[in-house]
Amino acid sequence: MCGIVGYVGNRDCTDVLINGLSKLEYRGYDSAGIAVFDNNQKIRVAKSKGRLQNLIDRMNQDGKPIGNAGIGHTRWATHGEPSDVNSHPHSGGRVTIVHNGIIENYKQIKDYLSDKGVSFASDTDTEVAAKLLDYNYNGSPIETISETIRDLEGSYALGVIFADHPNVVYAVRKESPLIVGVGKDESFIASDVPAVLDYTKNYYLLDHEEIAVLDKTGVKIFDSFGRKIEKELKTADWDVEAIGKGGYEHFMLKEIHEQPTAIRNTIMPRIKDGLPNLEECGITPETLKKFRQIFIVACGTAMHAGMVGKYVTEKLARVPVVVDIASEFRYRDPIVGEGDLVIIISQSGETADSKAAMHLAKKKGAKTLAIVNAMGSSIAREADMLIYTHAGPEIAVASTKAYMVQIAVMYLFAFEMALAVGAIDETECKRLVSTLMETPDMIEKLLEHKETTQYIASSLITADSLLYIGRGLDYALSMEGSLKLKEISYIHSESYAAGELKHGTISLIHDGMPVIAVATQSDLFEKTISNIQEVKSRGAKVILVCRDSYQPEPNTADMKFGLPDLDDLLMPMLAVVPLQLIAYYTSVHKGNDVDKPRNLAKSVTVE
Ligand code: AGP
Repeated sequence: MCGIVGYVGNRDCTDVLINGLSKLEYRGYDSAGIAVFDNNQKIRVAKSKGRLQNLIDRMNQDGKPIGNAGIGHTRWATHGEPSDVNSHPHSGGRVTIVHNGIIENYKQIKDYLSDKGVSFASDTDTEVAAKLLDYNYNGSPIETISETIRDLEGSYALGVIFADHPNVVYAVRKESPLIVGVGKDESFIASDVPAVLDYTKNYYLLDHEEIAVLDKTGVKIFDSFGRKIEKELKTADWDVEAIGKGGYEHFMLKEIHEQPTAIRNTIMPRIKDGLPNLEECGITPETLKKFRQIFIVACGTAMHAGMVGKYVTEKLARVPVVVDIASEFRYRDPIVGEGDLVIIISQSGETADSKAAMHLAKKKGAKTLAIVNAMGSSIAREADMLIYTHAGPEIAVASTKAYMVQIAVMYLFAFEMALAVGAIDETECKRLVSTLMETPDMIEKLLEHKETTQYIASSLITADSLLYIGRGLDYALSMEGSLKLKEISYIHSESYAAGELKHGTISLIHDGMPVIAVATQSDLFEKTISNIQEVKSRGAKVILVCRDSYQPEPNTADMKFGLPDLDDLLMPMLAVVPLQLIAYYTSVHKGNDVDKPRNLAKSVTVE
């Protein structure tokens, strides 16, 4: 969602802001803008609805602001449609701001300011915050920001400039992420590290309500009472290449190919003497033994990874696992408390609903374990225990490698849990771990042959709707396959437990309707094949994802994607790959913007 960049230094500020914003495009946006102190120390604003290129075109036409300090923004509309006027930056008069998040009490503030004679040009909550800052402005930016944030409810990261403090950028945040990049004779603010990696790898993580001041002398950070504080300077372990396409046509394809490495990086440091070892993450067999029940709470793809985690943990450890969508969990007054473990899975570590679910779980006395990819993110920092997935930066909105490492971690967790409670012995645990360790090589081989998935995808582009079906772990995986396809191909699809079709959904089947059936689980195989025959005999075009060794009868499938043999339990690690590729190539064939699908944001930092 919205991306913020700010700069103070000696470079051409507009170029730095545009470059930084381009690195944040993956977050999703529908308009962009900048505000720069020009050489006469006046604030110049340029903004435009649509892609960053529209803003560049506008500046080429109207003149580009030239200066060395300023703020920039990509907006993902929440309050007010995407339009030039609703684009950020917003000005309150002497104060100009960019904002990520939602000011929940903006209506009350707007009414209050309107009564005082303040008028508003846009429909945004951001303009309300800008006008409030201006209303409160007493000549001291830090005092004004401290005072104003006391009145703001909700989540925000703000980049702020004051007309009478030229070439100084201020930043503050609550809930929404913001980092402060530190280079030689220059400094930055950004919603995420990739925006500054072309210039520096060093950054501060701004904490709640801390205020950063960036000027020619460097960076100073203050607490919410205006007291100067010292913070630890962090160094990003990504480089510029990690956030480039590396010769691939799309980030999504690159990230699909990075999966074997991502799995190795994630699991190998957590395996000792052939057994899982999560001690470094604060997890020991003694801790695990104490939990009576497990909740896995997440959104979208991360929730689907949780579904795989549930099937595997329950099967191996015989401990009950409830998977919940974070936006449901947080409002349904869940029966959770002391003695329970709540696992929050999140690539970004900033998803608003997942974060709120974690806060609720903590409040109710449960222990929380975060499985997170983004280093230093809010969820990573606030959970009781933490397992980082080492996928590296995931830029494509459609998550692939992050899902892969999330399920890899769920396997390690399930193995360790099963061993801790005595449901499996060391020999079995070692066998499972070594099977998991085989998967990166097997995925590498699968990725050498993408033709079948290209062919399957070409048969899907005219479909209006399709179904994904499976049983057990194949059903859990179908959920992810279906989400992947719909988010980037814009073709409607649903995932269904194959055994549930007869209870209503089979009425949707018509001549030529594609059904992607996943059948990798030996004990459920015959049952799934029967369900496949039911849809096939009603005209469905069946695409079967199964073990290569199975030769379908002509009345079973129209197309087949064959997978190598592996332990049933671990088959999702392989079967997800063709599902990702089918979604990818369908989107490519349709000419869609694969990496930045419409209406979607990479990191959903608002409810
Ligand atoms: C997946 O392709 C989506 N982009 C989306 O479902 C995503 O997984 C979800 O928004 C959760 O994000 P998180 O992992 O950053 O919390």
